[in-house]
Amino acid sequence: MRRRGFLKTAAAGAGLLILRSGMLRGADAPSNKLNIAMIGTWGRADAHFGVLKSENIVALCDVNEDHLAHAAKMFPNAKTYVDWRKVFDQKDINAVVCCTTDFTHAFIANWALNRNLHIYCEKPIGNCVEECRVVRANYLKRKDKVATQVGTQRHAIDNFARVKELVRDGAIGELQAAYAWGDRNIPKPGYMVGEGQPPDNFHYDLWLGPSPYHPYNAGYFKGGPGANCLSWNMYWDFGSGQIGDMGSHTMDLAWNALDADLPTSAEAEGEKYNPDVTPPSMHTSFDIPANDWRKEIRLHWYQGGGGMFPNPPPGFGDVSRFGHGAMFKGTQGFIVADFDQRVVIPYGKEANMTYYKPRPKDQLIPPLGGFQQEWINAAKGNMKTTCNFDYGGKLIETMLLGLLAYRVWPQFLPDQVKEVPASKDKGKGKGPKQQGPPLFTGPKKLEYDGAKGRVTNCEEANQLISRKYREGWVLDG
Ligand SMILES: NC(=O)c1ccc[n+]([C@@H]2O[C@H](COP(=O)([O-])OP(=O)(O)OC[C@H]3O[C@@H](n4cnc5c(N)ncnc54)[C@H](O)[C@@H]3O)[C@@H](O)[C@H]2O)c1
Repeated sequence: MRRRGFLKTAAAGAGLLILRSGMLRGADAPSNKLNIAMIGTWGRADAHFGVLKSENIVALCDVNEDHLAHAAKMFPNAKTYVDWRKVFDQKDINAVVCCTTDFTHAFIANWALNRNLHIYCEKPIGNCVEECRVVRANYLKRKDKVATQVGTQRHAIDNFARVKELVRDGAIGELQAAYAWGDRNIPKPGYMVGEGQPPDNFHYDLWLGPSPYHPYNAGYFKGGPGANCLSWNMYWDFGSGQIGDMGSHTMDLAWNALDADLPTSAEAEGEKYNPDVTPPSMHTSFDIPANDWRKEIRLHWYQGGGGMFPNPPPGFGDVSRFGHGAMFKGTQGFIVADFDQRVVIPYGKEANMTYYKPRPKDQLIPPLGGFQQEWINAAKGNMKTTCNFDYGGKLIETMLLGLLAYRVWPQFLPDQVKEVPASKDKGKGKGPKQQGPPLFTGPKKLEYDGAKGRVTNCEEANQLISRKYREGWVLDG
């Protein structure tokens, strides 16, 4: 069945009446299943079908009607939509799973939260600092009523817990600095020129949604299921490049082990600024405030491979053998890890490990179990998830603050600037755009007031904290 005809036919009622968010708890709930709206029903969404089929999928929404039909085969009783704003008029929904483009996540998250709906949102939950902050604030207002989870499912891998235990139990002495990196590098010349017309079954204007208008080009949609995000996420209006991509997962290794909070400063260096495209190669760093078990430390993020890795521990060799990894530096050595492996490297004359007090087996951090299931269980129980919008919100706010620091970085100094590598993206582009200066030239180190969400030593930087939206799209609706 095709196109608009499909929409009409598939818009059958969903059946069961389930109560609104928060009312599922307790013995009086008429059903112990969530009534879920899936927004974005292809690609990454497929990865959730297996777990979600134990619940009631009552609404499906996708701007591509073929993708909608793909999910409707699995969930034939769900009502179908192409405009996610309409989904929120459906009264029986009590939870949302959002797998759309990065630049719509904060909108959909806020709309769900403002209606007390549980929400699982693919990473990243925002495309600029302000979006993450609004989502987090909306979550915190009702955190005892709604369950939230940012889609950083690697967090459920046991190695996350083991790395955290090594750091906390003193395997490298007192923590001094932390680093995370990812070597994915997807250069793009600039936004593509308009070419062809969107197919009938694809609502391109709804795809653009709040984003500034860019003409249609099939090149934004050339990726396979779950990888199409790589066709649009490098562009400033559509994503945050490697930060919203693998950065969300990899920084989680460090953020989790540090019990980190919002930074007090951010600085950046990298390739020359491209007004269309986020930097494939970049290094950002942050001062992360002290907490009850460690001093203030410096946290670094490197992306793009090439020279963008931290200096390795002495004698270890290049850390780039861990393509996406994290490193912790302590007074007595280093830990180098990726999602599945960890290596402890004692270093220095006093590095005899006597200071390391591993916790007994019965005090190990318990396994998280299924990551999506944790969210489902929380929505029916105590609302507690490991990557809720407070934890995941602060992580990505920090990363996006680093990207903001890059945009105001005084990169005129020729010896600090790297040339943008030649793009492999042949044919569709309009050719490399003139590389410009940053939007503003600010101080190298931005001071940040995390309570207020303001840069305190560069007023122009605050203009980049939020984004402007097309008419009809309300972030906090
Ligand atoms: N957690 C992970 O490991 C992981 C892996 C891949 C992608 N992702 C994330 O998942 C998201 C989707 O990535 P993808 O590769 O599946 O992208 P995609 O471009 O294939 O989009 C996914 C689906 O959403 C639909 N869509 C886009 N905008 C929409 C809108 N406004 N309303 C309704 N439907 C819309 C698309 O038509 C498509 O069917 C991204 O944010 C990405 O960061 C996460």
